[in-house]
Amino acid sequence: MAPLAIRRASTGDLDALLALYEQLSPGNANPDRQRASAALNDILNTPNVTLLVAEADRVVGTVTIVIVPNLTHDSQPWAQVENMVTDAAVRGSGAGRRLIEECLRLASEAGCYKVQLQSGNQRNSPENDAHGFYRHLGFEPSSTGFRHYLPGR
Ligand SMILES: CC(C)(COP(=O)(O)OP(=O)(O)OC[C@H]1O[C@@H](n2cnc3c(N)ncnc32)[C@H](O)[C@@H]1OP(=O)(O)O)[C@@H](O)C(=O)NCCC(=O)NCCS
Repeated sequence: MAPLAIRRASTGDLDALLALYEQLSPGNANPDRQRASAALNDILNTPNVTLLVAEADRVVGTVTIVIVPNLTHDSQPWAQVENMVTDAAVRGSGAGRRLIEECLRLASEAGCYKVQLQSGNQRNSPENDAHGFYRHLGFEPSSTGFRHYLPGR
């Protein structure tokens, strides 16, 4: 793989991002293109939200980090990591680590006291062991996540 760079996404990354999200959740990244383009613009223009890509000779991974202002913990913010995926062709080459390390750096720079994420229970299997990846990088499964999917979404 060509040398890897981590950078903020731009509008020109839309197709690469949608292809990666298709790998993250097959069938889930087939939105109306105009809506997807508008959503990417929103993301890029929302303070506290950073959409990162890992780029070698092409975009091979992505993650989003949101810095959340906070009144507890001495008013220190915290961060949520979401939509983490690397291209199946490059997994095991360090792209995932670089993306998470950049999230930790951004969170630290913002004064966050914690970085957290949710990962589906199905990603704890030999075929998809994202949980092992997160544990390896210092994340502990220390809370139970609850979700309420809204009707019709
Ligand atoms: C999980 C995922 C993002 C990991 O990305 P990756 O590019 O393969 O990760 P890296 O190659 O950077 O691995 C980083 C480190 O984690 C380790 N690692 C990776 N998977 C591991 C596992 N299951 N158990 C233990 N360690 C693991 C690697 O050996 C590497 O160790 P090192 O840097 O100390 O040598 C990738 O497999 C993926 O996209 N999976 C499908 C989508 C997904 O499940 N995303 C998470 C949604 S919550």
